[in-house]
Amino acid sequence: MRIAVTGTGYVGLVSGVCLAHVGHEVICVDNVPERVAAVNEGAPPFHEPGLSELLSSGLHEGRLRASTNLAAAVAASEVILIAVGTPSADGHIDLGAVEAAAREVGQSLAGCAEYKVVAVKSTVVPGTTDTLVRGILEQAAGKPAGAFGLCMNPEFLREGEAVRDFLNPDRIVIGQWDANSGAQLARIYESFNCPKIFTGLRNAELTKYASNALLATLISFSNEMAGLCEATPGTDIAEVLAALVLDRRWSPVVDGARVRPEILTYLRAGCGFGGSCLPKDVAALRGFARERGVPTRLLEAVLEVNALRPAAIVAQIEEALGNLQGSRIAILGVSFKPGTDDLRESPALTILRLLADAGVKVRAYDPVVKTFAGAAGPTLCASLEEALDGADAAVVVTPWPEIVAADWRVLAPRMRNRVIVDARNGLDAAALPDGIRYLGIGRGRRPWRGDELGKSGTQGN
Ligand code: UDX
Repeated sequence: MRIAVTGTGYVGLVSGVCLAHVGHEVICVDNVPERVAAVNEGAPPFHEPGLSELLSSGLHEGRLRASTNLAAAVAASEVILIAVGTPSADGHIDLGAVEAAAREVGQSLAGCAEYKVVAVKSTVVPGTTDTLVRGILEQAAGKPAGAFGLCMNPEFLREGEAVRDFLNPDRIVIGQWDANSGAQLARIYESFNCPKIFTGLRNAELTKYASNALLATLISFSNEMAGLCEATPGTDIAEVLAALVLDRRWSPVVDGARVRPEILTYLRAGCGFGGSCLPKDVAALRGFARERGVPTRLLEAVLEVNALRPAAIVAQIEEALGNLQGSRIAILGVSFKPGTDDLRESPALTILRLLADAGVKVRAYDPVVKTFAGAAGPTLCASLEEALDGADAAVVVTPWPEIVAADWRVLAPRMRNRVIVDARNGLDAAALPDGIRYLGIGRGRRPWRGDELGKSGTQGN
């Protein structure tokens, strides 16, 4: 099919490139000419494993191109995907780019006799597609929805796994204005072998938010339990969660073997969730609920627990070193998770700021992020070794494989004090050489104020 995708961010560009890969003719549209030029040259504007290869083959085989001309792309296409950004503004979603895209698409639809489907792929709060977007499209096109198709088709891809997630989806959710809209949109996914859920536009919109809110809830639950463990000598969150997930309702036994659903990886204590989706989407859902007078105490708590994590990590470093002022600390990993160069809402940025405020001399290293590009931060070192030279502590913030598998026999002697704070519990503590003081997350270490356990002293490090 002929497809136009507007927006060349993670969702837009990955969708466009992957849809071209499965055989469609795709035009990716963006209003930033430099971005369009980069895409046409085969250079994705962000780091995403596998994307550059598929982009190059799409361009080479002539099924993919980028353009700044949305009107022409709409005129040439049967399906138009709106995949522009929906940033957060004061806890509410900013729909400015969606509105602008809808207006331009609508204007172009006015001159088209052919039936076309417009699908919103951007993450938008329930009601956006059938009120705001439909209204703009109908007014600009001069015809009602039905004369053109209208869908809401959320995207569930993860950064770092985006190409794989898009090409092997768990499900495809198609919110439809009418059955014809959904049927036409589904044609672009004909070769995808997964459940396709046809539902209402608002259900599709809410499914995306509810999915991300649940992931965030699991992470904050784990972190709250970790905090409790830290105040309770003799406990270890990793052991508690490992036993918890063996409940068959979490890890069923299928054909005699234990199945470990991937979702369980979100039940893991760390320095909190970040990225372009989880923090923004939970805040937007809370804002949406507030506007309707619906209490969302759980979402409030999920965000609150998350906001406390960087300070908890800094407190742990301070406890380990006794005094932060003047100390030298190596921050290992700064992207919000491994596999991406995305710094948006990365817990590392907050940890770096708190350490700088406390008078710490910080050096940071990340295998992929080589500049803070506007965000405040220390100079990024070229290697793990450089970051660790003379350090009083190493703090593992992003568990990149290179960092998790680092050889501490070689690295530790470069440090002034051999302290490792593992803010993700990603290292194999048992495999570390002697002489390193290792502190993970959620291990009982603080005295339990005044009671019997406290008298037994701290333990578990
Ligand atoms: C998320 C959703 O997973 C995806 O479905 C949605 O489309 C966009 O938002 P992403 O932002 O790429 O994707 O991040 P994700 O891999 O889910 O990680 C989010 C946060 O959870 C990160 O801070 C990460 O460190 C943490 N995380 C991730 C875990 O704690 N455990 C994991 O196994 C994966």
